[in-house]
Amino acid sequence: TKVDRSATQVEKAGYKHFMAKEIAEQPVVLGDALRHYLTLDGVNLPPELDFSSIERLTLVACGTAFYACSVAKYWFETLAGIPCEIDVASEFRYREPPMPIQSYALFVSQSGETADTLAALRYCAGKVAKTVAVVNVPSSSIAREADLALPILAGVEVGVASTKAFTCQLLALAVMALKAGRDRGHLTKVQFDGHLDTLRAMPGLMNAALTTADDIAKLAEQLAEAQDILFLGRGPMYPLALEGALKLKEISYIHAEGYASGELKHGPIALIDRTVPVIVMAPHDKLFDKTVSNMQEVMARHGKVLLVTDGKGVASAAEGTWAHLRMPEVAEPFAPLLYALPAQLLAYYTAIAKGTDVDQPRNLAKSVTVE
Ligand code: G6P
Repeated sequence: TKVDRSATQVEKAGYKHFMAKEIAEQPVVLGDALRHYLTLDGVNLPPELDFSSIERLTLVACGTAFYACSVAKYWFETLAGIPCEIDVASEFRYREPPMPIQSYALFVSQSGETADTLAALRYCAGKVAKTVAVVNVPSSSIAREADLALPILAGVEVGVASTKAFTCQLLALAVMALKAGRDRGHLTKVQFDGHLDTLRAMPGLMNAALTTADDIAKLAEQLAEAQDILFLGRGPMYPLALEGALKLKEISYIHAEGYASGELKHGPIALIDRTVPVIVMAPHDKLFDKTVSNMQEVMARHGKVLLVTDGKGVASAAEGTWAHLRMPEVAEPFAPLLYALPAQLLAYYTAIAKGTDVDQPRNLAKSVTVE
């Protein structure tokens, strides 16, 4: 009815779609989450979440939340030196893996109701030192059943394709990884403070990243013609490449795959020709040159490269690419938080160019409470 439509318009705050609104509000909700999780000189996490004598972490989730876990694995390993295992919940629950008692198991879920993730949590209860839920809905089943529940504070997410919940999941996991780094003596106070400053700068950097929306909308008109699109990344940008591909296929229905840049030569390079766009997510970090050499292999086969990088990356490697997007500089290892935004915008505008239903993609549900 007319009333319902206008009510929905209000909730969309003038945006055409919930997804557009939720992408745009990330600097604000991430700022809220930062105010919750960061204190003047440290982090605000329950003291009982003590990583000092934990031998292993297990992170379990589905969909986009799983890719947040996949990014966090790099962080827990490099910032805290904790062996970290990740798995999708549907595999984990039936694999029945042995769980060391001196371990934490983390369950990441926007809704807190995903059936497979809940079953994985139930499997771990009593087998590990602590089960920890990282959720957007504090009253959810997963939050209630875990020993400890941490909110991601993204606010209500309506779009089926998860956007702001992803970056807020990343933030909560980053803060945990930093605490773990301190608890275990893996990070000096100076290093820890430096990483906190990087996180504090993120809302401002995200605002800058959002200004590429018009450029992305133009590129998307050409991406919409493609049959297949590849996303490449290395290190913590590899799972972001997977998330970029997931987002794109979910709402534009274009076949997309994410690959670790170094795996290109082990298969996907066979797909490359002038019709295949290859989106390279590569901040100018210590792995940049490696990724660039993979990108050049694509260009040598006439693949259409879209390089998403920072100013230094543009200066050293944008020549000869089909297009590039310039992100602000961000210190390692938190670039995935920022580069999530162009990945989301690429999916959004490609779907718009194809005329698909962005907020309600076919065959998908926001929350999968049955197996
Ligand atoms: C569905 C949604 C995804 C989400 C996944 C996991 O597939 O469409 O956006 O990432 O479920 O949901 P959860 O609520 O557990 O994060």
